[in-house]
Amino acid sequence: MFIRQYRQEDRKAIERINFETGFMGESMNKLISSPRLWSLGIKHYLDYEPESIFVAEENGQVVGYILGLLEELKTDKKKMMAVSALRNLRFLYSLILEDKIFWLDKLKESIILFIKSLFGRGFKEPKNAGHLHINLLPSVRGKSVGTQLLNRFLEYAKKKGTKIIFANSYQRAENLKDNFWTRNGFKEYSKIKTDFWRLALPGKEIYLVCYVRSL
Ligand SMILES: CC(C)(COP(=O)(O)OP(=O)(O)OC[C@H]1O[C@@H](n2cnc3c(N)ncnc32)[C@H](O)[C@@H]1OP(=O)(O)O)[C@@H](O)C(=O)NCCC(=O)NCCS
Repeated sequence: MFIRQYRQEDRKAIERINFETGFMGESMNKLISSPRLWSLGIKHYLDYEPESIFVAEENGQVVGYILGLLEELKTDKKKMMAVSALRNLRFLYSLILEDKIFWLDKLKESIILFIKSLFGRGFKEPKNAGHLHINLLPSVRGKSVGTQLLNRFLEYAKKKGTKIIFANSYQRAENLKDNFWTRNGFKEYSKIKTDFWRLALPGKEIYLVCYVRSL
């Protein structure tokens, strides 16, 4: 197993892992039929900041990744708003395409989150901070590959001048306290109970947690 920086030819593998792990570590194929719209969720990482992506490689195959975005440090607010608007547009666009029920539910959830944020009750993320997403294929989990990947990324982010880094993660009630993030020096910054997975896991208590660490 070794950790290295992303290369353009890794893109398909990353999109595949993103789909295979998207449902809180399980495959999205339980929920949607087409990976196409799901992969739009990571498009901006691959397009705008490929230098902040690291992968874990085993026997010539990419088996995990960290997608980073340190761009907010550059305070290019207009660009970030455009990126975010484009991301949200995918929900509307998808309503006329495949997997309508799933995407309609996601649209509903985003609107609720937006309205809550207007009243100061939304999900909070730190300002002027970089962030990351990490996902490994099931076969390589629990062998500290995630920790190695994370350390490599944090070393890189620190060199780039990042002072604060955060990651958002869906967590079940049972792994809120002792988990990958807290073991790696992250602290809870904000937490909300979410209905994001209600179609697949009705009645389950799931939280969206923002974990933060200083570098
Ligand atoms: C979370 C993840 C990146 C950790 O990488 P890893 O190589 O498996 O982790 P390590 O071996 O370095 O550390 C293992 C510890 O991570 C914790 N952990 C495992 N899955 C976790 C999860 N989904 N959320 C939080 N912590 C988790 C456990 O405490 C575990 O310790 P244990 O083996 O004693 O139970 C990896 O398991 C993964 O990709 N999971 C599925 C996708 C995911 O949840 N991604 C994070 C959302 S951004």
